[in-house]
Formats: sequence, C-alpha cells, structure tokens
Amino acid sequence: MRDSRALKKSDLEGKKVLLRVDFNIPVEDGVVQDRARIKNAARTVQFLREARAKIILMSHLGKTSSFNPDQSLGIVKNDVSEEYNAKVVLVGDYLSENASDVISRTSSDEIILLENLRFHMEEEACNMEFARKLADLADFYVNEAFSVSHRKHASIFGVPQFLPHSLGLSFKNEMQVVDNFFRGANAPKMCLIGGSKLSTKVKLLRNLVKKVRKLALGGGIAGAFLSFLGNKTLKIFDPKEYEKDVAEIIENARQYECELIMPIDFSALINDRDSFKHAIISSENDGASIFDIGPASVDLFKKNIRESKILLWNGPVGLFERAPFNFGTMSIAKEVAQLTREKQLISIIGGGDTGFAMNKFGVAQDMSHISTAGGAFLSYLEGSELPGIEAMKDAYVLE
Ligand code: 3PG
Repeated sequence: MRDSRALKKSDLEGKKVLLRVDFNIPVEDGVVQDRARIKNAARTVQFLREARAKIILMSHLGKTSSFNPDQSLGIVKNDVSEEYNAKVVLVGDYLSENASDVISRTSSDEIILLENLRFHMEEEACNMEFARKLADLADFYVNEAFSVSHRKHASIFGVPQFLPHSLGLSFKNEMQVVDNFFRGANAPKMCLIGGSKLSTKVKLLRNLVKKVRKLALGGGIAGAFLSFLGNKTLKIFDPKEYEKDVAEIIENARQYECELIMPIDFSALINDRDSFKHAIISSENDGASIFDIGPASVDLFKKNIRESKILLWNGPVGLFERAPFNFGTMSIAKEVAQLTREKQLISIIGGGDTGFAMNKFGVAQDMSHISTAGGAFLSYLEGSELPGIEAMKDAYVLE
C-alpha cells in the first residue's frame, strides 16, 4: 500500500461510497446478541458522514446462497440505526436497473444498507460480473470488514478491482496491532493459544514459536501436545493424526528458544459407578473426560503472563460456557484484565470465542485490543496472504 495516497474528507464530498462491513453477528429469535461488529465500523461511518459522502453499507449474514428471511439484514437495521444515529434504508433489489435511482433519491442523512450479499451465490463464487454491478452503485469502495478479508468473495476481492478504494480505519488498526506485536523485538512476548481443534491452528503455532518468547497452550490443543508427550491422562485425544506437526512445532520451539508452557492439571468429569463426579486430575485416569485446565495450571499461566509485557491470546482454555469448567478461562481473563488496567501488560485478544468469553466475564473493556475477527485474525497471525488485503495494493489512505 502506498501511504502517500492520502485521502481527505473533502475528496469524498458528495461521493457514493460502498462500505463493506461485517454484520455477520449473532442473532437469536430475530434479536441481535452482540453489536461489537456494528460498533467496529462506527469510526469509518463517522468519517464518511463528516465527509458528506453517501454511505452504502454491504454485508453478509450467516451461511446461505439464496434468499432466506431469517438471514435478512433487516434484522440488524434498527441496531445499525441506533449505533450510527441515522435512518437506515434497506435496499433489497440492488441488482435491478433502478437501484441507482433508489440510492440517488435517498437523502444524504440516510444510510443505505444492501440486503444480505450471500442471497446471491455469485458473492462467494467471486463472480466478477456481480462485483462490477455492485461497483456500479458507487464512486468509491472502503473495506471495513477485516473479519471477512480471508474470503475471496466478490464484495471483498472483486469490487476493489473496479473502484478506487481504501481500507477502513478499524481494518487498518487491526493490522497494526498484530504488526506491532510481531515487531516489538525486545519486549517479552507471550502467546496463549487455546480452542478445541489443533487442525485449525497448526500453521499459526508453526509461525508463533519462531516469534515469541513463551507459548502457553490450553484446550484441546494442549491435549494433543500432551498426548504426544506421553501424558496418559489425555489419551482421549488422538495424537497420531498430528504427530508430525506436533513434533515439528516442539522442535522449532526448542530451536527458536520459545518456552512451551503446558497445563499440569485438569478439571474433569470422572465416571464413578454410573455417575459423573467433578475432579481435578493430573495423572493417568481411565474414565476421565477433561473440560478445562486445573488450578495449578492457571497459577502457572498467570505467573508466566506476569513475566511478560505483551500477551496475544486466542482460544479459551476450557469449556468456558459451563461452570465449573469456566474457571480456567475466567481466572486468566481476570488476571489479564487487571494487569492491563495497571498498565503492566498489553493484551491483544483474538476474536470469535475468546472475545465472547471476555464479554461474558465482564472484562472486555479492560483489554488493550479485542479483534472482531475469528478466522481472518488467525490467517493474518499465521502470516497468510488475505484476499481482502491483496486486493488493496493500490489503496488510498483515509486521513
Ligand atoms: C466471520 O464471522 O468470521 C466472518 O463474517 C466470515 O464468515 P464466514 O466464516 O461465514 O465466511
């Protein structure tokens, strides 16, 4: 990206701006459960309103390839309107010939919201004709959907081929937070990686062990490593499938002097004569189903976090939705929040479940940064090229 291509508000005055946002947000019984992604785009929306540009929001919601009323962006319309303090007009037939007229007729105080992009299968197929039709609706394109930038979809990769474009302010910030994390060579850096599936994080772990001083593992991911290392408590995990990856990551950690920190005890349900009892275990136990790390592991993780200056955390360490298995994730979250409040730690929280857990434990506002992205955050951390960023090579910079 060429930072010299600064774009001032006055450059966008009176222009129609297609703003790709990610309103793929949790909805239950037609009610929005979390507005974080709507709030995330607020700064760019404000920028464009101050520029007196006409804003055309576009997003997907859920997984579909045809019309489904339960996935209509009409569901989020009121929340968007409240957050941005503006009237929002939902446009359903934005591919029709008179769509441009409809858009032109709306007043400059109103914000236009195009109906769910995924109602058209061309979106996910990255159909360039579909992208061109979207581009025809506007003069300029802004991508404020970092959390979808790992998808090579028409609204992410295609539209910027047809319009002058720019990254949104939050999108840029998300990238900078991660870039700064990797850049700070001397600061003691730690990563805490949890979550249930090792398969989604192999590439990430390969990258991280080369770049951080400490890497703590929780959740099913720790299980896979410990099984490999011979902990028989964890034989429920199948170490064979990822044997090669785990061996390589452990070897890389040794080579790059990254300390691997593993749980030393676990919170489990033990099958005891046809009933299940909660227990803390650390050694071989035939009937145990493990759902969290134990108190000694929590202390070990907290001690290591206190010795670090920057923490990047992605993935809960246990089944945080259910007591008593929320203990590990909640205790660590509270410690990280406190250290961050005391300015002893910079805390970067990966999105998806981890961000949701921070909200649940009431500590989200204390963290230095919580990403609104799940898969895209992981891909960016892995060092993979994201189509949404690849398409922005000639981007203007909002100033
Ligand atoms: C997300 O929620 O991670 C993004 O909106 C992408 O959604 P997708 O996984 O359905 O492509």
